[in-house]
Amino acid sequence: MTNLSLDAFTADLERLRAEAEQTLADVADEATLEQARIEFLGAKSGRLKLAQKGLGQVAGSDKPAAGRQFNAVKSAVEALFQQAKDRAATGPANVSAETVDVTLPGTPVRFGRLHPLTQTIRRVASIMGHLGFEVVDGPEVEDQWHNFEALAIPAEHPARDPLDNFYISVANSAEPFLLRSQTSTVQIRVMEQRQPPLRIVSLGRVYRPDTADATHYPMFHQVEGLLVEPGTTMAHLKSVLRAFASNFLGGDVHVRFRPSFFPFTEPSVEVDMEWNGRWIEMGGAGMVDPAVLEAVGYDPDEVSGFAFGLGVERIAARRFGVADIRDFYRNDVRFLEQFSDRGQA
Ligand code: DAH
Repeated sequence: MTNLSLDAFTADLERLRAEAEQTLADVADEATLEQARIEFLGAKSGRLKLAQKGLGQVAGSDKPAAGRQFNAVKSAVEALFQQAKDRAATGPANVSAETVDVTLPGTPVRFGRLHPLTQTIRRVASIMGHLGFEVVDGPEVEDQWHNFEALAIPAEHPARDPLDNFYISVANSAEPFLLRSQTSTVQIRVMEQRQPPLRIVSLGRVYRPDTADATHYPMFHQVEGLLVEPGTTMAHLKSVLRAFASNFLGGDVHVRFRPSFFPFTEPSVEVDMEWNGRWIEMGGAGMVDPAVLEAVGYDPDEVSGFAFGLGVERIAARRFGVADIRDFYRNDVRFLEQFSDRGQA
C-alpha cells in the first residue's frame, strides 16, 4: 500500500519533532517524563512507532529518503528525552535545596555591645556632665611643655625619665615629643585657650612603658577633671568626687583623702572610695598649684581651682568585678559579652 507522499510523511515527522521538543521541554518530574515517554517512545503506539508504520506507506522510490528522515527525527527525539530525563533526576534535588523551611528556628542575631571601658568612659562623662563638667579632648602625642613643664614637673624630675616614658623624636623639633603619660596635659591645653570659670573632664588614653600585669598595662585610660572658679576649696573637690562616686557605684559612697604629693597640686591627696566595705584607691587630686595657674597666664590671687585624675581601668575593674585589667585588652568575646551596655548613657 503506497498511499503516503514523501511530503506528507516529512511534514508529519516535523510536527512530531516540534511537539516532542515542546513536551519534553516542559518535563519537570518523573511523572511528566513517563507520560512523554509513552506518548513519543511508546513501543506499541508511541508517535515514533506510528511514524515508523507510516514509512511502510511511502512509495518505494521515496523510502530511502523517508527512512533517513525518520532516523534523524528518532535520534533527535531520543536525545531530547535523555536531556529531559537528566533534568527530571536533578530537578527535585535542586528544588529541595532551595526550599526555605520557614518553621526552622532562625540563625540568632548576635548583638554587639560597647567595650566595658567605653561603657565606663561614657558613664563617667555622663555623670560629670550632670555636675556641669564639659567633656574635652586632647592629643595623645604631646610636647614636654604640656606633659611636664606647665604642670610644674621640671627637667630633672624622675617622672621625665626616658625609661618611664615613650619619647618620640620628631623631625625639625629640638626636643622629643612623647605619648602623653597623663591626661593632666588637657588641663593646660584648656586653660591656655580659655578663661575661668572652667569645668572640664577629659577621658582618654595614656602611655607608660610598664610591664603588663594584673594592674598595669603600657596603655591605659584616665579621667581628668578640672574646675577653676573664684573661691574654690577642697570642700568642693570632695563634694564633686563624692557625688561622682555615689552616682557611679550607687548608694551613699564615702570618699577619703590621704595626704600625697603631685607637682601640679598643692595640697595634693590620694582619693579613696569606700565600696562594699572596702576602701579603693581611685586616683589623685588636689588644689591646682599657683605655679600651674601662672604658667597658663591666670592670676593665682584671683582664681583657684581643683583637679583630679582617676584611672578608668581601676574604676571599671571595681564596678565589673574584673581581677586582671589585661582581660580588657584581650578582645575575647566571651569576656567582653558579659558586660551589658543596656541602659547606659
Ligand atoms: N596625673 C596624675 C597621674 O597620672 C593623676 C593626677 C593627680 C591628676 C592629681 C590630677 C591631680 O589632676 O590633681 O598620676
